[in-house]
Amino acid sequence: MILSNRTIILGITGSIAAYKAAELASHLVQLGANVNIIMTESAEHFISPLTLRSLTGRPVATGMFELNSEFVIEHISLAEAADIVVIAPATANIIAKLAAGLADDILSSTVLATRSPIIIAPAMNVNMYENQITQSNLSKLVSLGFILVGPVKGRLASGEMGLGRFASIGDITGAICRRLGENGDLARRHLVITAGGTQEPIDPVRYISNRSSGKMGYALAEAARDRGARVTLIAAPSALIEPYGVELCNVNTAMEMYSVVNDIAPRSDALIMAAAVADYRPANAVQAKIKKADTPLTLDLVNNPDILDNVKGNFVRVGFAAESEHLAENARAKLQRKNLDLIVANDITIAGSGFGAENNEVVLIRRGGTERKLPLLSKREVADKILDEVASLLR
Ligand code: C5P
Repeated sequence: MILSNRTIILGITGSIAAYKAAELASHLVQLGANVNIIMTESAEHFISPLTLRSLTGRPVATGMFELNSEFVIEHISLAEAADIVVIAPATANIIAKLAAGLADDILSSTVLATRSPIIIAPAMNVNMYENQITQSNLSKLVSLGFILVGPVKGRLASGEMGLGRFASIGDITGAICRRLGENGDLARRHLVITAGGTQEPIDPVRYISNRSSGKMGYALAEAARDRGARVTLIAAPSALIEPYGVELCNVNTAMEMYSVVNDIAPRSDALIMAAAVADYRPANAVQAKIKKADTPLTLDLVNNPDILDNVKGNFVRVGFAAESEHLAENARAKLQRKNLDLIVANDITIAGSGFGAENNEVVLIRRGGTERKLPLLSKREVADKILDEVASLLR
């Protein structure tokens, strides 16, 4: 949503990772951005302008046009109109050119002519990356306000393992969203968000958990980041990828989540408890694996503390109510009992909504009674609706 109708200049340089820029371009287009691609001549050896033109539906500027002054002027106006410039992948060569202020090709001249924020995602051989010249060029760019994403450690094109791999598409997109949303309605706010289903150990190999995927909490974390918030995501185990630009605290059990929320939430502006916290835990998690036997096994369970009920402090409190009957009444009772400002009620019997699903159909109930019933929406859309309420509660 944050990228819809935003103009992005995507500069592609001649690293073997250039082919991955096609996926990045396609992803940004799918998120609604207008993506104008500028390729260096060496990038054209790795990926065809036609591929990129087909993915973006826009002309692609290549080295071929460099001598055509009209085209250069057009690109200067594009540089002025861009909301953000992203160079991905960025080679040691373009990094050196930018650090020196050179403008001897269409990409470096466009970058020099822009006043918009610039993100660079380096991708190169580990020795080239670690070379002091590259490092000092990068430090210079960072000190001038360039945003660096990656590189990451991993297998490089040379077969070596090392630092130099192109950052993930998710991280580059996350960096773009975060920068564009920096002055959003949650700027200078600190939100603590919990996600996922806690795991309560029975023995070293077994645990009790639930079907929560963590998707709602992760969507909230990314949406809050994209509105300028500082986000701490306290996550029970989930298969989801760590969101870019969010402080992630991994926990396993309800007791661990309670302790971390208790440490952090009291100093925050809002706590959103999207996690499915186990209500009970085995009374004694045994140290050795329980052997299979022919006799039935009985587990003694004890209550976990209710985190929302017990964390003290003056911050906006948002809870979730997953209900299978009497949705609004049960949710309203929970809002009262837990002293919440807002409760997100979802009917877990609706197909394609709630636990594990991509979408969610919820009712937002504010303290004082105002109720907003939303249609089935993606979890990201639901996250933004919840954050509309949080932003209004914080005002
Ligand atoms: O009472 P119930 O578990 O249905 O309440 C759900 C809400 O309370 C969710 O926001 C959940 O994250 C939170 N919760 C909690 N601590 C628990 C159990 C649930 O904060 N032990």
